[in-house]
Amino acid sequence: MKDYKRYTVTSALPYANGPVHVGHLAGVYVPADIYARYLRLKKEDVVFIGGSDEHGVPITLKAKKEGVNPQVIVDRYHSIIKKSFEDFGISFYIYSRTSNKTHHETASEFFTTLYDKGEFIEKTSKQYYDEAENQFLADIYIMGTCPKCGAEDAYGDQCEKCGSSLSAEELINPRSVISGNKPILKETKHWFLHLDKYEDELKQWILEEHKEWKPNVYGQCKSWLDSGLFPRAVTRDLNWGVPVPLEEAKDKVLYVWFDAPIGYISATKELTPDWEKYWKDKDSKLVHFIGKDNIVFHCIIFTSMLRHEGSYILPDNVPSNEFLNLEGDKISTSRNWAVWLHEYLEDFPGKQDVLRYVLCANAPETKDNDFTWKDFQAKNNNELVAIMGNFVNRALVLTHKYFGGIVPQPSSETDYEKEIKAEIAKIKENIQYNLENYKFREALKNAMNITRLGNKYLADTEPWKLIKTDEDRVKTILYYSIQLCALSAVLAEPFLPFTTTKLVNMLNISKPEWEETNNFELVKPGHQINKTSLLFERIEDDAIDAQIEKLNKTKEMNIAQSTQVEPQKDIITYEDFVKQDIRIATILEAEKVTKTDKLIKLLIDTGIDKRTIVSGIAKYYKPEDIIGKQVCVLVNLAHRKLRGIESQGMVLMAEDTDGSLKFISPESLSANGSTVS
Ligand code: MF3
Ligand code: ZN
Repeated sequence: MKDYKRYTVTSALPYANGPVHVGHLAGVYVPADIYARYLRLKKEDVVFIGGSDEHGVPITLKAKKEGVNPQVIVDRYHSIIKKSFEDFGISFYIYSRTSNKTHHETASEFFTTLYDKGEFIEKTSKQYYDEAENQFLADIYIMGTCPKCGAEDAYGDQCEKCGSSLSAEELINPRSVISGNKPILKETKHWFLHLDKYEDELKQWILEEHKEWKPNVYGQCKSWLDSGLFPRAVTRDLNWGVPVPLEEAKDKVLYVWFDAPIGYISATKELTPDWEKYWKDKDSKLVHFIGKDNIVFHCIIFTSMLRHEGSYILPDNVPSNEFLNLEGDKISTSRNWAVWLHEYLEDFPGKQDVLRYVLCANAPETKDNDFTWKDFQAKNNNELVAIMGNFVNRALVLTHKYFGGIVPQPSSETDYEKEIKAEIAKIKENIQYNLENYKFREALKNAMNITRLGNKYLADTEPWKLIKTDEDRVKTILYYSIQLCALSAVLAEPFLPFTTTKLVNMLNISKPEWEETNNFELVKPGHQINKTSLLFERIEDDAIDAQIEKLNKTKEMNIAQSTQVEPQKDIITYEDFVKQDIRIATILEAEKVTKTDKLIKLLIDTGIDKRTIVSGIAKYYKPEDIIGKQVCVLVNLAHRKLRGIESQGMVLMAEDTDGSLKFISPESLSANGSTVS
């Protein structure tokens, strides 16, 4: 493996259009943070970069829905996301954002350099355009009928009903999400990155020279490269983003996937005037932590941009995780199927490390994985409490009890202690190996082995019995136990930073560096330790049941919504609307229509006349309860016969999402014949 002088560690920039959840943490930020903390503990020269991705169509769509400027949206979520990361100890050196000036300049220059080198091809094509709004429509701004399953509310990029990915041109009866109008096709010019031209060099660089990348990353790249690359547009017709720095493209912006990864560079620039050495010096190791939906953009597109800009290094690795599911279902922001980080901390204050632990132990490193609350509880109670918490507590409590909290002098080492030392050296080697190879689950298991070893040591030697007969032996045992506590504080720090802080405080030492653990003795005999408290607490069933209950509620709400809310109908004009003559009327008489369980025959005073109307409300109203009630009636509906009775209009009803019917009534008594519009 190549020896590097410094490290540039990046983690995918989350979109600033919603808060972050456990899936984000497990997929990207926990592993990236563990890696960065490890390097820092080893005193390596490292920068750890994060920030919000503040461009892209979904942000503009959300802004439009709320009727605000996109900047309002990104300001809101940027601060929520930033705070969540701080709360969970994600130790960025800088957490920046792509709507700021440095980034706009950096991305703009990057484009210009590639442009000047002739790396783009220009192409004119036809795209959907909303004439009422005077704007081109991105795919997700277009809805229509899905060509695959016939659902009427498919988006131009995909159909949520059947899951097919689509292109806007495939939709039947396309309509603009903004105005509802039928879009026209209009010519527009864009700049394309010549990916097809880079195919061979990418094949060589990834498929031949980076066989060590994780199988999921390598595999995805290979399947893209094998099926052939095509030019890819890096500009868009949109008014939110980094403007394209060309005279003829004033109303266009850079595609969000062009500008966002450049955000890593812009953020480093903001962090240090020395930024270039982290990005341009061959002795720097560049590592991108990402989720699996980002693989192609990072490995194929961004690396091509870096390579052809000419002055940048390429990533050494792009460790990407698969997805984390929640209780068996895909995490989804729109369905609110997630454990939001800010909500977790409200329910489990101070328990950041528990979540970090569970997410790392369960990280979807090689395949999608599932987060369940039962497993969360089990990992806390059976591992953090029972292994690490228990050992540390016993070691410190016994030291207080027998020796007044003074670390004793060892004097009776046996083979057992020699074995412990040898075992610790092995554990440490394993942790290092696994961390350096992005196997964080395995590394965490190794780290837990320190206190697992400690528990076995105490169980085997039973100092609480020996204290009556062999105090010297107990001194040795507790001296060793204290060293194991201190070692665990250091070697588990990348995973459990809050716990480490607590533990070094109890030990009354300052946090040792990684290399200091080569000397087994981290705490000297004669050293006074502080009062102890529990490192971890048990989590009881009621706390877990409450979380499960919360998710069940979400599920119920989703079912009610997704199956029952009617999609919006086709747009009508005002003239269409006013053709309906709706009046306030009073029910004078009501009786059930015989031999049906649905219909009630009503005599109604419309103010214009008294007429008969048959209405399908018998399941929801009793005839005797509705006499005298004021309702809305569509009076100019063509008459029709129901069960032999001529119905002369229609009583308007609200149909709830569960199918039940309710009258629409004026808020206070009105004259019969009052119009409704
Ligand atoms: N915002 C993207 C996402 O959440 C990730 C962008 S990573 C970057 O999927 F490199 F482009 F910044
Ligand atoms: Zn479909």
